Amino acid sequence: MAAPLPPRCDETAAWPALRQHFEGEGRRFDVRRALAADPGRVEAFSLQAPHVFADLSKNLLAAEGERLLLQLARECRLEAQRDAMFAGEAINATEGRQVMHFLLRAPRDEAVPPGLASELAQVHETLEAMLAFAESVRADGQITDIVNIGIGGSDLGPQMATLALDEFVAPDKRFHFVSNIDGHELAGVLRGLKAANTLFLVASKTFTTLETMTNARSARQWFVQRGGTDVARHFAALTTHVQAAAEFGIERTFGFRDWVGGRYSMWSAIGLPIAIAVGAQRFRELLAGAHAMDRHFRSEPLERNLPVRLALLDVWYRDFHGFGSRSVAPYHSALRRLPAYLQQLEMESNGKRVDRQGRVLPYATSPVVWGEPGTNGQHAYFQMLHQGTDVVPVEFIAVKTPAHGLAEHHPQLLANVLAQAAALMLGKDDPGGHKHFPGNRPSTLLLLDRLDPQSLGALIALYEHRVFCAGAIWGINSFDQWGVELGKVLARDIAPRLASGDLAGLDASTAALVRRLRA
Ligand code: F6P
Repeated sequence: MAAPLPPRCDETAAWPALRQHFEGEGRRFDVRRALAADPGRVEAFSLQAPHVFADLSKNLLAAEGERLLLQLARECRLEAQRDAMFAGEAINATEGRQVMHFLLRAPRDEAVPPGLASELAQVHETLEAMLAFAESVRADGQITDIVNIGIGGSDLGPQMATLALDEFVAPDKRFHFVSNIDGHELAGVLRGLKAANTLFLVASKTFTTLETMTNARSARQWFVQRGGTDVARHFAALTTHVQAAAEFGIERTFGFRDWVGGRYSMWSAIGLPIAIAVGAQRFRELLAGAHAMDRHFRSEPLERNLPVRLALLDVWYRDFHGFGSRSVAPYHSALRRLPAYLQQLEMESNGKRVDRQGRVLPYATSPVVWGEPGTNGQHAYFQMLHQGTDVVPVEFIAVKTPAHGLAEHHPQLLANVLAQAAALMLGKDDPGGHKHFPGNRPSTLLLLDRLDPQSLGALIALYEHRVFCAGAIWGINSFDQWGVELGKVLARDIAPRLASGDLAGLDASTAALVRRLRA
């Protein structure tokens, strides 16, 4: 018999207690006063996790709120839910799948439940093969350009990480990422390439995704038209669907299992572009950093567990304060694709409106996640963060030691990140109105010593587990993505109509647009 589902957040005793706390002191909480009154607040709201230090002290949360949120996590049996994932239970129930991306970064000799031992052995077998191939490409002077063709999780993770680790990337290779079905993207990349010097990586978990298959076919056609003969040498596939890759004509395939969700897959064969870019040793360091965070998540008590603490803030802001979005501001230009990566990780995982039993939820789930690197964002939308009508919690990410030697820059960058967080919180009185800053606007600071493979791995695993924790408290399945299906089906129906003009059965608005596009 299946174990009973853990209580949903609104079925706990902590939920109404949190509501009462919010209606009382929670709503009026002033973080400036709290910091002035409580000399222990900074310490109590700071946490050192592997490679990531977090200052949570500027958030709109009192010790009592924190205590109730931790009670909420316990009542939702968060630890048991976490342990079920690590035990390999099929927690992705709507797809009948286990959720085991953590296994991709576990060392070969990691103690795992007996049922997972053969999976772990296979993970390492694929990892060795993929890293050996990565090294052979790095040593191959004829290959100068690597084109990753993939979308969603088969694009965002490898692209984000390859950019983030720019300091370590092989100087004689260029990396291109083609995801969009918009042919402008592929055409723009191909324009600068030579067939003989290019390696295409076709990355698709399912090997059926319209965008990726269309781009892959066009790339193959381009390759042949440009005199390329050796498809086997110039194309490789990264997929769970080895058979489909073979049918496409690709001989070299690196596989992974369906228990890896697309948005959790950069640790798998999907990470091959990263491995080619930074080499086998540094890819192993990326995995090691993520594994260190896995250990932290599995072993630290909830009070000292960073993914848990961040997720509790997410629930607090979304369901009690009613904040609709969270802004991520990495103060390191190499992290410029991190917000886009997090949009898929968080919003595809937790953008759900029903619980695990399919019941419509009476409370809000995923916020909108958005952002740009600092300091650029300061000169664009930070106006709204400081003086707009909505409160948007901000997550600043800063790196203590830069990778460049331009002495003047980094102290200025760090001064700006500290200044923005302080300005949001402190505000400024001005009776004239226009120059008044209300202040008391919350932010979190995540601090890395350096941006390197280990710290990046830890940071991304931190976000993965935070998403898991919020989803577990909300009682949703964070690992399916049915919401992306309907549009795909409709596009398949509309595409031939653009050619044929058949409007039968279309709604009036779509029919009029098809007519206009054909005119
Ligand atoms: O459409 C959404 C999605 O299924 C994502 O979850 C996934 O990362 C992306 O498409 C790409 O899928 P695939 O790797 O199978 O091509």
